Amino acid sequence: MDYCKITKPICSTLLFCALSTHLSFGQNKTQSLKSAYQEDFLIGTALGTEHILERNEKANVLIKREFNAITPENIMKSQLIHPTPDRYNFDLADKYVEYGQKNEMYVVGHTLVWHSQLPAFVAKIKNADSVRIFMTEHINTVAGRYAGKINSWDVVNEALNEDGTLRKSVFLNKLGEGYIKEAFELAAKADPNASLYYNDYNIEQPAKRKGAIELIKKLQASGTKIDGVGIQGHWSIKTLNLKDIEDSIIEFSKLGIKVAFTELDLTVLPNPWDLRGADVNQRFAESPEMNPYKDALPDSVQTALANRYTDIFKLFLKHRDKISRVTFWGVDDSHSWLNGFPIRNRTNYPLLFDRALEPKKAYQAVLNLKTAK
Ligand code: XIL
Repeated sequence: MDYCKITKPICSTLLFCALSTHLSFGQNKTQSLKSAYQEDFLIGTALGTEHILERNEKANVLIKREFNAITPENIMKSQLIHPTPDRYNFDLADKYVEYGQKNEMYVVGHTLVWHSQLPAFVAKIKNADSVRIFMTEHINTVAGRYAGKINSWDVVNEALNEDGTLRKSVFLNKLGEGYIKEAFELAAKADPNASLYYNDYNIEQPAKRKGAIELIKKLQASGTKIDGVGIQGHWSIKTLNLKDIEDSIIEFSKLGIKVAFTELDLTVLPNPWDLRGADVNQRFAESPEMNPYKDALPDSVQTALANRYTDIFKLFLKHRDKISRVTFWGVDDSHSWLNGFPIRNRTNYPLLFDRALEPKKAYQAVLNLKTAK
């Protein structure tokens, strides 16, 4: 919002205008992520229950000031929204969608078909027909309920293995690879206006990227609507590979679809098993060596994090014409899933806001790319 435009009548002198701009930190055109990047791409965050219910005023103010896109971190996953065959919990999802609409945000639906966080009853299904009935009813009911209110759906999440082959899941095992096309067709029918995305982690890496490109090309060849690909972006300050990311942006966009970075965070913690990515089923033992910044983050690591975010956002800006959205996986460090994954009870620092909800050096670095003279 242009502060001077709306206060024109009283903005009689340049001095007053300059002073007003200075005082209105936060609403000022260049002083938030979403306004700094408004000509480039959407800037999103993932919301937990406490954010949706607006329980913490400081977080609430921050979310509204900084972000113009939201994703539900957990509450739309089938385990939570569809716990038993005939029961749906729409309460929080309704509030989530209302929150986005009320604040004029781009509202993402996450996610319709995923092998993880599935309701217990699905694992017990023995025959293909029942899996198909579950998937069909689930998509029709959930995507149908929010038709016209969700801007984009992550229709299928994490269907690929690291080598680019299709992941064995209840969907692949019982329905064959056609389940992906079926899911996209059902979503397109249930909510014709939503943009439909395939979402996965590590698909910036060559082998898995190749698998994702094949998957997308097959959908396109069969006339199935797919609007974009979501690269999750669960990366590490140590192993970040900018070339892979750039190659992926270019290759995916050549398919005529949008590229979104849907779950961005950067772990600063050690990772001795060279685990990359975000397979939520991988867990490792706790130990003090694996939790080195329990009390505070050293300045050198704070700076390294800021530098890595600078590199990433420079690249995103270079390809702003191909990128629809960049969403952080969480609002602040205290809520990040990386405090519990892949090792429980650690203190991680992957986001732009610290545990007191104050902007970190990395926040300033990302903002400076657009505002520094
Ligand atoms: C994570 C959530 O952040 C955690 O709270 C939950 O316990 C597990 O799932 N890929 C995805 C996200 O698509 O939905 C996952 O979110 C992280 C990996």
